[in-house]
Amino acid sequence: MIPLLNNGRLPPALIERLKAAYAWHDLTAEADRAAFLARHGAQFSAVVTSAGIGIDAALISALPNLRVISSFGVGLDKIDLATAHARGIAVGYTPDVLNDCVADTAFGLLIDVARGMSAADRFVRRGDWLQGNVPIGRKVSGARLGLIGLGRIGRTIAERSTGFGMPVRYHSRRPVADAPWAHEPSLIELARWADFLVVITAGGSATRHLVNAAVLDALGPEGFIVNVARGSVIDEAALVRALAEGRIAGAGLDVFEDEPRVPTALMALDNVVLLPHIASATRETRQAMADRVVDNLQAFFADGRLVSAAPLV
Ligand code: NAP
Ligand code: 8YV
Repeated sequence: MIPLLNNGRLPPALIERLKAAYAWHDLTAEADRAAFLARHGAQFSAVVTSAGIGIDAALISALPNLRVISSFGVGLDKIDLATAHARGIAVGYTPDVLNDCVADTAFGLLIDVARGMSAADRFVRRGDWLQGNVPIGRKVSGARLGLIGLGRIGRTIAERSTGFGMPVRYHSRRPVADAPWAHEPSLIELARWADFLVVITAGGSATRHLVNAAVLDALGPEGFIVNVARGSVIDEAALVRALAEGRIAGAGLDVFEDEPRVPTALMALDNVVLLPHIASATRETRQAMADRVVDNLQAFFADGRLVSAAPLV
C-alpha cells in the first residue's frame, strides 16, 4: 500500500476509507513532528490535509519525495501553493460540491441577523416574552445585496437572491464575463450601495483586511455584513469597534481571524450571529467533499491527473 501522511482534521469515516486504501500515518498525532519527519519524511509521496490546516513550506520541504497533496475543502489559503507547484507537486481540493451549503449558510446568517432570530430565540428561552416583545427586524426581501467575490460560491449566493427579489452587485478584481449582475470596481462604492454585504472571496494575503474600517463606515449604521469566506478578509478589530459603536447594523459570521477564538466583545451583542465555521457542514456535502479527497488521490495514482486540481499560482 502507498504510504499516506495525514496533516488535517478529517471526518472519521473518511479516515477509515483512507486507512483501507493507503498505509495511513497521522502526523497530527506525533509528539515530536520534526524527529518523525527527519526519520520518515522521505517515505511519503502523498499527503492528505484539510483547508483549515493545509500544508506549509516547512512541511513540504521535509517530504522530499512528495508528489500529491489532497485537501478536504476548497480554501487554499493554508496550502503553500507556490512551493508545491515549484516542486511539481499536484494539489487536489474539493471545489463546487460545497457551493450550495455555503450559499445556504450565507442566506441563513443574513436572514438571522436581519430579523434577529437567534436573539429572539434567546429571548423566548429566557422567558422574557412574558414581559414584552423583541425589537423588530429589517426586511430582507427586496434589499440590496453586495457580494465581495463572485466565484463558484459567490455566484450561487447571487442566484439565491432571485427568490428574495434582491438586486445584486459584486466586487472582485476582474468582472465576470457572463455574469448578469453589475460589477462594482470600488469596494467602498459597493458597501455604500449595499444593505447587506456578503464576503465570499478567497482568503490569504491578497484579501487580508480587504474589509477595513472605511468599508464598514461606507456600509453604514443601517448595513449588515455576513462573512462565510475567511476571518482574515475582515479587519476583526475594526469590525468589533464598528459593531460596538453602532456604525454598522449587525454581522453574521461563520469565520474568524483566530479560530476557534472569537472576540469576547462579540458575545454580548444581540445584533451579531456567531457560527463555528459550519458553512459546508452537512452530511451530504461533507460526504461529497470526502469522496473528492479520495477520488483525487485515486486519479492521481492511476494516471497522474487529479479530478480537481488547484489553480497554478
Ligand atoms: P473562487 O471560485 O476561487 O472565488 C473566489 C472569488 O474571490 C473570485 O470572485 C475572485 O475574483 C475573488 N477574489 C480573490 N481575490 C480577491 C481580491 N483581492 N479582491 C477581491 N476579490 C477577490 O472560490 P469559491 O469556491 O467561491 O470559495 C471562496 C472562498 O470561500 C474559499 O477560498 C474559502 O476560503 C471560503 N469557504 C469557506 C467555507 C466555510 O466553511 N465558511 C466553505 C467553503 C469555502 P477575482 O480573482 O476576479 O478577484
Ligand atoms: C471546511 C472550508 O470547514 O472548504 C473550505 O475552505 O473552509 C470548509 O468547507 C473546511 O474545509 C474543513 O476543514
